[in-house]
Amino acid sequence: MKHLLTLEQLSQEEIIDILNLADQLKWQRKNGIEHHLLKGKSLGMIFQKSSTRTRVSFEVGMYELGGQALFLSNRDLQIGRGEPVQDTARVLSRYLDGIMIRTFEQKEVEDLAKYGSVPVINALTDYAHPCQVLADLQTIREFKGAFEGLKAVYIGDGNNMANSIIVGCLKVGMKVAVATPKGYEPDQRVLEFTKQYPGMFTLTTDVLEASKDGDVFFTDVWASMGQESEAMERKKIFTGYQINSNVMNVANKGAMVLHCLPAHREEEITAEVFEAHADEIFEEAENRLHAQKAVLVKLMGDN
Ligand code: CP
Ligand code: NVA
Repeated sequence: MKHLLTLEQLSQEEIIDILNLADQLKWQRKNGIEHHLLKGKSLGMIFQKSSTRTRVSFEVGMYELGGQALFLSNRDLQIGRGEPVQDTARVLSRYLDGIMIRTFEQKEVEDLAKYGSVPVINALTDYAHPCQVLADLQTIREFKGAFEGLKAVYIGDGNNMANSIIVGCLKVGMKVAVATPKGYEPDQRVLEFTKQYPGMFTLTTDVLEASKDGDVFFTDVWASMGQESEAMERKKIFTGYQINSNVMNVANKGAMVLHCLPAHREEEITAEVFEAHADEIFEEAENRLHAQKAVLVKLMGDN
């Protein structure tokens, strides 16, 4: 693994390797065992969108690994004034050991990797959120013990989270059912990808049909970052695409609920279901730290 741009690029073995290392680092942290695996290394973190979890978990993660992280906001970088990503990539590669970027277009992340000479990590684009879904998979394995035989259900917008959930869950052996309104389906490239998993993937507009016998439920905001002007219209279109008690009533016993956060209560999820599953959701948020530390070690570590 040279970069983490999408989950499509990872094999099942590479995903499991990352999750195993993430579990190990989590255990070491809980037990106060130092793990300075990136001593003296620097990660640049370019943010063109807001963030709470991603910024803090990467920054603390680098510190705990013995390295440092630099927060590089679009507002301050020359990239925000039009310096090409090709040049930024070549310059930053001379100072840094890795670059993390959160931006709009997937192509910008790909270009950074293409023109730079250090590992690049996608920390969310409009297309994908691979770091989040690695943390989600770590959480699922923690609560359920294994992936095989589980059915993942995604309800809502066919956005970056939907794209990465579909790819990640299929790769580790889960079935995936997705319910979105017409016209808001996951990316065509992801739908193409699901054809490699016959009988494992379904797409419908019917929330209850997708939810039946589900083991792990996901949802995400109806309007993502960059879609603020569509928020009112989307509220109408997505009404009913919600994780609520009707959904949980058709789920398998002991079903989990995950949410990448931030959550909009009474929109994509009811407050009742959110609070009933808060232990899972906040463990998921914590696991961003552990899963990303594992990714950083795999990409920037010495062996
Ligand atoms: N889930 C997630 O990526 O959160 P932030 O936007 O706060 O980083
Ligand atoms: N789909 C959301 C995820 C936020 C973590 C967004 O892109 O804004």
